[in-house]
Parts: sequence; C-alpha cells; structure tokens
Amino acid sequence: MSKKWKITVPGSTANLGPGFDSIGLSLSLYLELTVSLQDEWEIIHLSEGLPKEFELKNHLIYNVANETAKRYNKVMPSCRIEMTSQLPFARGIGSSAAAIVAGIEIANLLCDLQLSVQDKLNLSSQMEGHPDNATASVLGGLTISSMDEEGNVDTIHVHDLEASFVLFIPEVMLKTCEARDVLPSSFKRQYAVRASSGANMLAAALVLKDYKRIGKYMESDLFHEPFRADLIPHYHEIREEAKKAGAFGTALSGAGPTMISIIPNSIGEQFVEKMKERFPTHKIVLTKPDQRGVHVEEISSVSKIR
Ligand code: HSE
Repeated sequence: MSKKWKITVPGSTANLGPGFDSIGLSLSLYLELTVSLQDEWEIIHLSEGLPKEFELKNHLIYNVANETAKRYNKVMPSCRIEMTSQLPFARGIGSSAAAIVAGIEIANLLCDLQLSVQDKLNLSSQMEGHPDNATASVLGGLTISSMDEEGNVDTIHVHDLEASFVLFIPEVMLKTCEARDVLPSSFKRQYAVRASSGANMLAAALVLKDYKRIGKYMESDLFHEPFRADLIPHYHEIREEAKKAGAFGTALSGAGPTMISIIPNSIGEQFVEKMKERFPTHKIVLTKPDQRGVHVEEISSVSKIR
C-alpha cells in the first residue's frame, strides 16, 4: 500500500501598495496537488492554464522539493504529482510562491523532515527572495514580514480582514524580474522618508482594520508603482473607476500586471459587474483572504501492483 496526499496552497497578493517585499495577503484562489510515491518522477498538469509541455528538470516544484531535501541531507524519493491551479503564471498573484510552498511540503512529507512553521516561513521566503507572498501562502491571512541577511523571517500575522478583494487580471504576462529591472536602486532621503511613512501607515491601518485608511495608503506607494505604472494595462483608469464604484483603494498586485482593489463585502457582485463592463479585456475576479494557509491532508491509501 502507498499513501496519497492532497496539498492545497493559497495564492497571494504582495505589497498592497507601499508594503514592498514585506506585506502579503493570501487569496481564495488555490494551487492543488495530489502526491503519491512512484518509481519514477511524474508531474501532470491538469488545468487548462498550466503549460502542457515542460521539462521535469526545469519544474519549480521538482527543484524546490529536491533542494529542500538536500538542505536536510536527505534524498528526495521520486513521486507522482497531479496538479490543478487557479493561479495564472506571471500575473502577480503568487503562483511561484505557492509552487515553492508546495515543493517544501512535498519534501517535508516524503522525507519526514518534521519542519516547523518557522522553518517553512524561512525556507520559502529564502527561495522566493522576499517574504511577502511566501509567508501569506504558508500562514493564510495577512502577513507583515521582515527577513534578515541570514534569511530568518519575522512575521506579524493578521487574521480576519473583513473586506473583499477584486483582481483585474489582464491577458498579458509580466515576469517579476522584468518588473524589478525598472526600479531605481536607491532613493534620496526625503523621498525615502515619504515612501516609508506611507508603508508605516498602511501597516498600522491593516493591524487596526481601518479599511478607509488601508485603501488610502494602498494608493500612496512611492517605492515601485510610479516606475511600473507604464508596464500595466489601464493602471490609472482602473484606480479611478474602482474608486468611483466604491473601492477603498487599488494597488498593483505584487509586481503586476494584475491590479487589486479592496472593497466592502457588501458591494462585491455589483462592483464586479461594473468593472467587467468597464474593462472587458481584463478577467475580474472576486476573492476573499484565505484563512488557512497551506494545508496537507492524507486522502487515501492506494494499492501498489508490483
Ligand atoms: N514584492 C515583489 C515585487 C512581489 O513587487 O517585486 C513580486 O514577487
């Protein structure tokens, strides 16, 4: 008999405006995998949006699982992974962080690594390079994090934001590395003070669940959005129209090109309908924060025929 597990990882949005590389929020959109031991590695993409053709040695989940096992001096056994995803690639909704978190869980399960939550936060953030998306996918809810030079992550975890989040997902992709290339490498002191005061107010408003101020400070970013705006389809129009339709505020989701509005729960469907009419080339998706984070469940034991 061999075991079979289901691993569910929420996608996430990062930054929420000025919380650059630090603030993350998990979303009710998921990467789901079923995993079982098998004599040879096999990864099967079941969703339409996942690439049909790929090489195993380039697959992020395969590489993360092997790397995680190696860090603990274990050898990753081969396995069969079937995956479905509601997270389109290179759109700024945390598909790579979710894949990293999944790969770590697979190694944890199959190599019996007994990783703590803190280990998972550290490993996933180190592999992603920043802790915003990864911490949100591990813990669920909202995360405000800092990672030191040794890769130790400290996270303040905020539950139960009572608001909805609407994604404006364009057809085009934007790789994070390209969206990072346009950022300045340094800021003058006065500018940095203004930028960090916006980030401080955003973090405080999130902790206080002061939704009007969350919206206001989501729109105050000076660290990255002014430099990325030209890469984003309808950046200014989406902010304006969302505000007119009742959003508290709108920001780039991660590095973009998706944008995200925070809205009162009460206006969800009507807001989405208006935005669908106004931005027909975007996919408009109503989400909530996921509250659970990564979840692993043993789903069955399957007989192995030799
Ligand atoms: N904080 C990251 C960025 C998120 O804005 O570049 C995307 O990985």
